[in-house]
Amino acid sequence: MIITCPRCKKQCNIDEKRIPANAKKARCKSCGNLFALNLPGKTDAAELSRETRIIGVALSKGGVGKTTTAVSLSAGLALAGHKVLLIDTDTQGQASYSLGVKPKAGLVEVVTEELKPEEAVCKVRERLYLLAGGKSLAGVKRLIDRKDFGGELTFRESLSIFEGEYDYIVVDTSPGWDALTVAVLFYVKEVLTPISLEVMALQGLMEFMKSLASIRKYRDELTLKYVVPTFLDGRVKQSQKMLEELGKLYSEQICPPIRYNVRISEAPAYGKSIYEYAPGSPGAHDYRELVRKVANNPKLFRQMDMI
Ligand SMILES: Nc1ncnc2c1ncn2[C@@H]1O[C@H](COP(=O)(O)OP(=O)(O)O)[C@@H](O)[C@H]1O
Ligand SMILES: [Mg+2]
Repeated sequence: MIITCPRCKKQCNIDEKRIPANAKKARCKSCGNLFALNLPGKTDAAELSRETRIIGVALSKGGVGKTTTAVSLSAGLALAGHKVLLIDTDTQGQASYSLGVKPKAGLVEVVTEELKPEEAVCKVRERLYLLAGGKSLAGVKRLIDRKDFGGELTFRESLSIFEGEYDYIVVDTSPGWDALTVAVLFYVKEVLTPISLEVMALQGLMEFMKSLASIRKYRDELTLKYVVPTFLDGRVKQSQKMLEELGKLYSEQICPPIRYNVRISEAPAYGKSIYEYAPGSPGAHDYRELVRKVANNPKLFRQMDMI
């Protein structure tokens, strides 16, 4: 049978009888990429049909709701029945904190190959898995910086093994624009950008769009798929005005807004997602709406939001 490497597309003709019955992964002889092996008849049907959507939550500006959105989107998709991997690429490691866990390993161990990928992943809820970030990611940044070439492909190479295992991979990113952000944007397929509805937010978006365009020169398949307005405050005129402006500028990508809701800011301290901490709050309602939009399924959680 012919097996094609998902990264370099090199094809290899292998005698089927020589492949062990329980083989799940293969390494490409040409580029060294380790990838999930979907052998007909050797994996179950669900695994075979799984096409992983890889969504990066990114914007150079900090405090716009990236981590909140990455965590709430992942937790919501998992509640809706999807198998989700949340990857935290921020040195602050806020995703673990928000979900109330302290994983011993995470993304660093996968990139440095200290652990097998499945050993570094931590199950945090039903169907929700986490590859934690944290301080040690600074070392990965240095590792990328030191590479003579190909540093931007670091995540794509190390994380390709997870493709096919999850329905969704959601990647939280750090503020700013550095080697880690670039490596994330060479890995993800879709970008989701939260925009806080405050003054100056649009300027931040324009700058980010310019940086994104510089990556799209090399990866035209990378798309800005969703623009998520955050911190909507109905009492503030400016907030409403910006929402309208965003809707005009990004009519295809615009998502239903996330309102300012104090419950959202309280939930992380309890290590709970917004659906666990305050399921009836406006924050939970708005994030369920976002989950419906991303999953492209308007029927999800309908009963809960009718109340
Ligand atoms: N819709 C919201 N309403 C109220 N507080 C929010 C909302 N979204 C995020 N926050 C709070 O704002 C702060 C910044 O959000 P965060 O998701 O960490 O932003 P980023 O990851 O972009 O830096 C956090 O304390 C978070 O709990
Ligand atoms: Mg963050």
